Amino acid sequence: MSSTVNEKTITKVPLIDLKRQYRSMKEELNSAIQDVLESQAFILGPQVKEFEDLFASYCNTNHAIGVSSGTDALLLALKSLGIGDGDEVITTPFTFFATVEAICNVGAKPVFADIDPETYNIRPDLIEKSISKRTKAIIPVHLYGQCADMDQILEIAKKNNLRVIEDSAQAVGAEYRGKKAGSMGDLGCFSFFPSKNLGGMGDGGMVTCNSEELEELIHMLRIHGGRPKNYHASLGINGRLDTIQASILIKKLGHLDDWCDKRRQKASYYTEKLKELDLVTPKVMSFNKHAFHLYVIRVKERDGLMEHLKANNIGCAVYYPVPQHLQECLADLGHKEGDMPETEMAAKETLALPVFPEITEEEQDYVIESVKDFFSS
Ligand SMILES: Cc1ncc(COP(=O)(O)O)c(C=O)c1O
Repeated sequence: MSSTVNEKTITKVPLIDLKRQYRSMKEELNSAIQDVLESQAFILGPQVKEFEDLFASYCNTNHAIGVSSGTDALLLALKSLGIGDGDEVITTPFTFFATVEAICNVGAKPVFADIDPETYNIRPDLIEKSISKRTKAIIPVHLYGQCADMDQILEIAKKNNLRVIEDSAQAVGAEYRGKKAGSMGDLGCFSFFPSKNLGGMGDGGMVTCNSEELEELIHMLRIHGGRPKNYHASLGINGRLDTIQASILIKKLGHLDDWCDKRRQKASYYTEKLKELDLVTPKVMSFNKHAFHLYVIRVKERDGLMEHLKANNIGCAVYYPVPQHLQECLADLGHKEGDMPETEMAAKETLALPVFPEITEEEQDYVIESVKDFFSS
């Protein structure tokens, strides 16, 4: 099948195409990288601090600390709060593995609360039911670019004296009741993995916070925990943001709002055109500004549709096929199928369609026609 528009025939659509963004700002990015090469200041060069300041101001937080990845952002956030052996951290089982991995890597136990089947985000009422004497923190994940219900989560946290770390890896540019993702909890964690809404050219991450004490701690922990250098009162990691990545991200940050607007427009186009079909389009809560890192539909015959789209050269993917409570390496937690029914169902029925700022209407039409074709055959 094909979609012909202006005599151009579309026969394939990638899930994401990073080359288009690179080409649109090639000179700017090449020159930023060249500046770092000339300076040879690869480790914590001045661009890192410059980007941290710009990012804190973008998120409306007092501080931002550049780190090596979203995974290390979570690890450092947990370490800075002193969470470790014997502690419990409540999170969602419907997330990328890194959220849970970070909890385990500080020695704490992940405790799962199931999701809302409409937004795919953690359910605050189930968080409340999962609190024990050992609970120290909650990590809501703003999945696919839509914030979890932060007011309720923050209220529960306050009532129970718990800390909140927002896993905003997929939500840079998203807003909840006018507040930026990553600015509402004690700490916000971001990823600049290349395919993210704000993507580097390698790994990178950021932790945001308002507390000066936490900012100082994370700065220290990201350089092995030494203060002064070579004197270690605490164990840290090598978790700095790379200067080349910072120089690239400074240039890209200025485009972020425009890119998120475009993602929202592309998402609305899909939603409008797919609404009559036997599938569920993403639900955006009225108080949220969705950043549409991913455009995820829900369909009973998910695997059949995925095969059909792939046969038509359309990139699509499942985020995430294995609920985290059922991961093999977490078998010791003793979970079984049926423990988190909404997550387990979502893992079987959800599918991400191609969405990125540069995707064309013709490409979207090809995807839409292909989805329609699946339902009519
Ligand atoms: C929800 C979530 N948390 C954490 C991470 C980890 O980020 P990174 O890949 O930068 O380590 C990701 C990355 O995909 C993510 O999607």
